[in-house]
Amino acid sequence: VGALMAAQDLAGRTVVISAGGTREHLDPVRFIGNSSSGLMGVALARAAVQRGARVTLVAANLATEPPAAVDVVDVGSTAELAAAMDVHAAAADLVVMAAAPADYTVTAPSPVKLKKSGDAGLNLELVQTTDVLAGLAGHRPPHQVLVGFAAETAADPAELRALGQAKLARKGCQLLVLNDVSGGAVFGAEENQVTIIDADGEVATAAGSKTTVAHAILSASEAVRKRLAS
Ligand code: CTP
Ligand code: CA
Repeated sequence: VGALMAAQDLAGRTVVISAGGTREHLDPVRFIGNSSSGLMGVALARAAVQRGARVTLVAANLATEPPAAVDVVDVGSTAELAAAMDVHAAAADLVVMAAAPADYTVTAPSPVKLKKSGDAGLNLELVQTTDVLAGLAGHRPPHQVLVGFAAETAADPAELRALGQAKLARKGCQLLVLNDVSGGAVFGAEENQVTIIDADGEVATAAGSKTTVAHAILSASEAVRKRLAS
């Protein structure tokens, strides 16, 4: 009975999770993207459903099937992700930005397929996309918990932590899930290893399947929510 009750600790909560990687088109058939599979965000969505939450998954080019019991909002680019998050996050208790948004978009995408011109190269002009997470933090309802992710390559754990603290402060989110991607191991992998930090430092670590890590992130978020509500 205890385990069953604990498993429903998100009953009545609205959770919005972004997952996958955004794509910025150069022309109708080519894009700049990244290797995020969306597995971590999908694991979070599934875990939140199991714990009783109502879940919206804002899905950017997932390489995996979203769970059946979530509302899926498909997006392509970072601008589309930003617009969808603005709509869906407004009434959420918990918002997790597990997606990997492209940081740059093409200044002037071609409406028609680009053709090669002799043996000339191609210069692409890019501009920064909007920072979705920082934008959400800027108009966060007081009760809402906002969680970011940061995949960093760091020389050692101390550097990883320093990068994480600076990023959390810059974004203005309540929690940041940090993982070390030196070597590129996590992309598309089933296993993950993370450190969860708040503005004061480490609050939890988790290692194992993305499901295990997802539950740890939800538990840390729920602890923050209780603190905000008290
Ligand atoms: N993020 C976002 N909007 C962007 C870029 C990132 O909301 N345009 C979110 C990601 O979903 C993640 C967090 O911000 O939750 C950190 O992403 P990351 O790429 O590590 O941070 P950046 O600010 O883009 O910094 P950089 O890539 O230069 O390290
Ligand atoms: Ca980035």
